[in-house]
Amino acid sequence: MANVIIVGTQWGDEGKGKIVDIYAREVDVIARFQGGNNAGHTLVVRGKQTILHLVPSGILHNHKICILGNGMVIDPAVLIREIDELHEKNLFPPDTKLYISENAHIIMPYHRSLDSARETRKGTGKIGTTGRGIGPAYEDKITRTGIRLCDLLNRETFAEMLRRNVEEKNFYLTKFYNAKPVEYDAILNEYTGYVDRLREYAANTSLIIDRKIKKGRNVLFEGAQGCHLDIDYGTYPFVTSSNTSAGSACCGTGIGPTKMDAVVGICKAYTTRVGEGPFVTELTGEMGERLQKAGSEFGATTGRKRRCGWLDMVLIKESVRISGITGIALTKLDVLTGIDKIKICVAYKTNAGEFAEYVPPDTKLLEQCHPVYEEMDGWSEDIRRAKTIDELPVNTRKYIERLEELAGVKMSLVSVGPGRDETIMLENPFRV
Ligand code: GDP
Ligand code: IMO
Ligand code: MG
Repeated sequence: MANVIIVGTQWGDEGKGKIVDIYAREVDVIARFQGGNNAGHTLVVRGKQTILHLVPSGILHNHKICILGNGMVIDPAVLIREIDELHEKNLFPPDTKLYISENAHIIMPYHRSLDSARETRKGTGKIGTTGRGIGPAYEDKITRTGIRLCDLLNRETFAEMLRRNVEEKNFYLTKFYNAKPVEYDAILNEYTGYVDRLREYAANTSLIIDRKIKKGRNVLFEGAQGCHLDIDYGTYPFVTSSNTSAGSACCGTGIGPTKMDAVVGICKAYTTRVGEGPFVTELTGEMGERLQKAGSEFGATTGRKRRCGWLDMVLIKESVRISGITGIALTKLDVLTGIDKIKICVAYKTNAGEFAEYVPPDTKLLEQCHPVYEEMDGWSEDIRRAKTIDELPVNTRKYIERLEELAGVKMSLVSVGPGRDETIMLENPFRV
C-alpha cells in the first residue's frame, strides 16, 4: 500500500496527465491538490486525446474516486463544461465518482478581469498568465475575502460576500486599471445557476480520502504546473500563485505528511516554458524550433507556442530537493531521437560564480546566468515501441543513466510516446 504524490519538476507540461492516467490503475483515489484551469493535462488512450483542466487525470478509469481538493481554485463554468463533455463523449465511467472540496475557492468573473487588467498594465513586464483568474482568486483566499464552494452553496452568504467583493473589485477595475466594472446582478444570476449542478459533488474530501487510506487503499495526489512555477521556490515573479511542490499535496487535500510514501517527479527529456520569465537553457534558433515541432509544444490550455531548450539539471536537482522526489518519470524521450549531440545543463555560470545546486532567486542575477553544458552522443533509432530498457539504443540508456546520476534519483518510468502503452515501467511506486 502506498500514497504517492506526482509533481512536475520543470515549468509545467512535463506529461503529468499521461503518467497519472497510467498510475491511476494502481489506486482508488486520484486527488488534485492545487491550481485550477490554468492546467492542461493531456491523456491519449487508444489514439484518442482528452485534455483535462480541472477534473483529475484518473477520470477515464472505472471504479475510481476523483477529487478536486481544497487547495484548488475552481471556475464553475469550466468545470461544468468539462464534466458535460466527458459525459457526451462517454468518457465518464458509471462507477467513478467525482467530489469537490467544500473548502475549495471559486474563481469569479472579477478574478479574470483583474488578471487581464494587471497583465495589460504591466505591458512588456507581464507574467504571461493563462488569463484564467488564478492569481486574483488565490489573492482573495489569502486576504480572507474569497468565496469557497460552501459559501456559494449558501444563497444568503453568497449574495452578501459577492456584494462586498464586487464593490471592492470594481473600485480597482475602474479607478486603478481603467477597465470595465463587473455587474453584481449578472454574476449573482450566473453563479446561482451553477449551484444545483455543483451541490451533488460538494463534500468533505479530506474525510473521503482518509477513510480510503484507513482501509489500506492507494491514493494518488496529482499536482499541476511544475516546481519552478511554485510561488515560493519558482522563478518569482514569473510563477503561478500556488505551491506546486509536493508539500502542497498535504495542505491541498487535508491529508497529513505522515501518510505520504513516495513522490514521483515528472521530467521532460528537454525543457519547455509557456509565458514569460527567465529560461537559462532556452534555444531560440533552429534546435529550439526542432524541439518545438517534434514535441508538438503548444500549450494545452492557451494554445501558445511553448519555448524550448535543453534539459536543465539545476532545475531538476532543486525540484528533487524541495519536493523530496523518490523517483523520476522521464517523458518525451522520443522527441530527442535523431539529434546528433544532446546537451545537458549541469550548472549556471555568472560573474558571481557557479550555481549547480539551486536556481538563484534574484531575477537579475538569473538573467545573467549562462548554462554549463555536458554533451552526449544521441541516437537515431525509433524508440517508440520499446517496452523495456534493454530495447533502447545504448546511447539512450547512457542519457538516462547520466540523468539519474545528476539527479541522485532513479527513474521509475520512461515515456517514449504520448499513448498509454508507449511506456517503459521500471519501478512501481505503489508497490514498494
Ligand atoms: P501536463 O500538463 O504535464 O499534463 O502535460 P501536457 O499535457 O500539457 O503536455 C504534454 C504533451 O506531451 C501532451 O501533448 C502529451 O500527449 C504529450 N506526451 C506525453 N508524454 C509523451 C511522450 O513520452 N512522448 C511524446 N512524443 N509526447 C508525449
Ligand atoms: P500544467 O498543469 C505550463 C504558467 C503560465 C504563466 C504562469 C502564471 O498543464 O503543467 P497563471 O495563469 O497560473 O497565473 O500563470 O504559469 N502556467 C503553466 N505553464 N503548464 C501549466 O500547467 C501552467 N499553469 C500556469 O503560462 O507563465
Ligand atoms: Mg499542461
